[in-house]
Amino acid sequence: DGTLTVLGLESSCDETAAAVLRRSATGEIEVLSDLILGQTEAHAPFGGVVPEIAARAHAEAMSGLAGQALQEAGLSLAEIDGIAATSGPGLIGGVMAALMTAKGMALGSGKPLIAVNHLEGHALSPRLSENLDFPYLLLLVSGGHTQLICVEDFGIYRRLGSTLDDAAGEAFDKTAKVMGLGFPGGPALERCAANGNAKRFDLPNPLRGRPGCDFSFAGLKTAARQIWDGFENPGDQDRADLAASVQTAIARTLATRSRRAMREFAASLPQTTAPLPFVVAGGVAANQTVRKMLETAAREEGFRLIAPPMRWCTDNAAMIALAGLEHLLRGETDGLDAPARARWPL
Ligand code: KG4
Ligand code: ZN
Repeated sequence: DGTLTVLGLESSCDETAAAVLRRSATGEIEVLSDLILGQTEAHAPFGGVVPEIAARAHAEAMSGLAGQALQEAGLSLAEIDGIAATSGPGLIGGVMAALMTAKGMALGSGKPLIAVNHLEGHALSPRLSENLDFPYLLLLVSGGHTQLICVEDFGIYRRLGSTLDDAAGEAFDKTAKVMGLGFPGGPALERCAANGNAKRFDLPNPLRGRPGCDFSFAGLKTAARQIWDGFENPGDQDRADLAASVQTAIARTLATRSRRAMREFAASLPQTTAPLPFVVAGGVAANQTVRKMLETAAREEGFRLIAPPMRWCTDNAAMIALAGLEHLLRGETDGLDAPARARWPL
């Protein structure tokens, strides 16, 4: 009857996830199940994601979670039209868990495998919650990625900028670690910054004067570390002020570069009076200071900011199943020799 149902699997970082999506003949998407298992507790003692621990946890959880997602959707493997798995980019040991599980299920059932680029999942994710037409501008800000992407159509992604060193989330996490704030660092730093004075410390303005939409966070991180190390006996106020200053500096650079991307994006389109869509996705989108500055930037540039619900903003399997559905619809499936890739630019 023209409907397609896909199981999606994700394990490229520290989230094990499985979801089942159905697409009607008219293109409506229904999320039949959507499960996520986090690993925060396993990594917390180390202050960051440990690849070996992540890989092992994914390997232990993935196939059980896939079965559970099917069960919650009320479907058997025989009733599914395809199995989509993130096959990169990401931590290679982790990527293998979803990909191998998907290959096993594909081999056992005779259903097609769809090897999905994790970044394509993020790029399409706003379409899970919004009735969003192409093209749109996307800022992806997570622990692993900081990119500005023009999503022109399905399969047509134009990267306007990306980070030359650390990701924005990494800058939050590493600074929080230096300051002894715990893991994950982003939310901890935001809490600490709540009573801080963001104007107390003068932090560098990354890539100032450099044209384009690229990002750099390494200099900011180093400057923050030097300020922290310069304290003889830092008190709560020092900590809060530094956290607030770092947070504002990161948010400001995200907003500045996004403005440039908005202008570039707008210039590539026919004149319009309607606000253009600017989507922010990734864990850092949870930060209120970041969000406020992006909102202001969007408004002033004639865009509207779209922030999908957090569960689809951070790593999840629904976005992988969605990308899988779109590929399957176009007859784009992969062989059982599809490789796991640590690097895979969109
Ligand atoms: O998208 P995500 O859950 O996973 C990937 O990295 O793929 O993003 C996690 C990142 C971490 O670096 C985390 O510290 C950051 O998002 N993050 C935040 C906040 N919540 C999560 N950064 C700043 N403020 C937050 N409230
Ligand atoms: Zn991600």
